[in-house]
Amino acid sequence: MRPALEVENLGFAFDNRRPVLEGISFTLQEGECVGIVGANGAGKSTLLWCLLGLWKNRGTVRWFGQPPGRASSGRIGAVFQNPEDQLFMPTVLEDVALGLLNRGLEPAEARLRAREALEHAGLAGVAERPAAQLSLGERKRAAIAVALAGAPELLLLDEPTAELDGRSVRQLAELLGRLRVARLIASHHLDFLGKLCSRLLVLEAGRVIAQGPAGEILADHGLLERAGLV
Ligand SMILES: Nc1ncnc2c1ncn2[C@@H]1O[C@H](COP(=O)(O)OP(=O)(O)OP(=O)(O)O)[C@@H](O)[C@H]1O
Ligand SMILES: [Mg+2]
Repeated sequence: MRPALEVENLGFAFDNRRPVLEGISFTLQEGECVGIVGANGAGKSTLLWCLLGLWKNRGTVRWFGQPPGRASSGRIGAVFQNPEDQLFMPTVLEDVALGLLNRGLEPAEARLRAREALEHAGLAGVAERPAAQLSLGERKRAAIAVALAGAPELLLLDEPTAELDGRSVRQLAELLGRLRVARLIASHHLDFLGKLCSRLLVLEAGRVIAQGPAGEILADHGLLERAGLV
């Protein structure tokens, strides 16, 4: 197995304030599914944004052995915590097609693939509507469709189950479980992560306080309590 993502001693602060992330180190192997858990404000979303190269951090991030950049970004799919951050075109169909166009697909092919991705997400009926006219759960599913449409080799998902109903959570778990690409999932949904992830990282106030097999972490009530998760 080769690493899909290597993170060494990552640190980050907004402006000159107290660091939001400090000393974060971990590796995600190709094909592996790893969860990031932590209380509100622990730094999960900030970590994902730093990994994507959207915020400049201290330390080292390597995607497929390279620093974040154009070459690697096309291989990565991301679902942001707020779907509005990635849905801004006149229709959700165009939102999904945009990433495919950026990868060099012909417009007709991009629209076809985008329509398929929306059908897969159960959103065929709303493809021609702007995201603002969708329910929050539908927007979240559209953001997931955006990320999956490009057949990424590595998926970053921030709270993918927030706002989803029970059936959508189950379908998402089945879908993500079938994928063979590396997946990094930030979530409070411990059952969901327990089903999908081989390993979990526990973040507390911007530091990794534990990482290990998902079963062991989820059985450690004291740790989960300390991390604000129960
Ligand atoms: N743009 C910003 N400017 C300043 N501080 C910020 C900004 N965004 C987030 N923070 C702070 O950074 C810390 C980490 O926030 P982050 O959103 O990464 O947490 P999180 O673990 O994703 O929480 P949640 O479970 O609520 O999604 C919090 O203390 C938050 O207040
Ligand atoms: Mg967050």
